[in-house]
Amino acid sequence: MSPFPVIAIDGPTASGKGTVASLVAEKLGFHYLDSGALYRLVALASEKRGIDVKNGHELGLLVPKLLISFKNSQVLLDGEDVTEAIRTENIGLRASTLAVHPELRSALVCLQRSFCQSPGLVADGRDMASIIFPDAVLKVFLTATAAARAERRYKQLIAKGISAKLSDLLQDLQERDVRDSSRGTAPLLIADGAKVLETSDLSIDQAVKTVLDWYQSEIL
Ligand code: DC
Repeated sequence: MSPFPVIAIDGPTASGKGTVASLVAEKLGFHYLDSGALYRLVALASEKRGIDVKNGHELGLLVPKLLISFKNSQVLLDGEDVTEAIRTENIGLRASTLAVHPELRSALVCLQRSFCQSPGLVADGRDMASIIFPDAVLKVFLTATAAARAERRYKQLIAKGISAKLSDLLQDLQERDVRDSSRGTAPLLIADGAKVLETSDLSIDQAVKTVLDWYQSEIL
């Protein structure tokens, strides 16, 4: 049982769940867990150490050796600021590839649950509602069409001055969707009891408001 209320927000890559989840957490004064960042940190750390993405055993053993901390919007790995380094397409792809291993996924369970602290938590990822916080007060599956998600990712990269091709982004994102949804362990799915939020035609504010309204109606 989670000791404090949890809102679990799952969804495919670039669905906007990170933005929505962190704003919902801010509005409620809750903690925020970006579980994808943990997989990305393992992707970066394992690349630096030369660990093969196919070696689930070694990847699992790596987790307790990592010194991970989140400070405001900064992500630190072994004391180094890796906020930008974990956001590249290459690291996202590597994270999706190594996330198939059950040994790695179970090594990350306790760490993810440790984020559930007073007064509550908003957690985003792929298996927050199904595996990590099955007793979440509210479960949301946040999604958007692949075209809408590719366009959002494209705009984010261009705004950061990073060149990108929309068709390549769409293809990467569709490949990642297939891998995240078809893996044997903890695949991306709509958990039992989850409410689906289709955001292709919603603004961020509208999506945040919908989640907050759903939460209020759950706790009444
Ligand atoms: O949410 P994201 O794009 O930052 O996540 C990167 C990858 O990590 C994603 O493609 C699959 C994996 N992941 C996962 O398997 N389970 C989670 N709870 C979160 C992310």
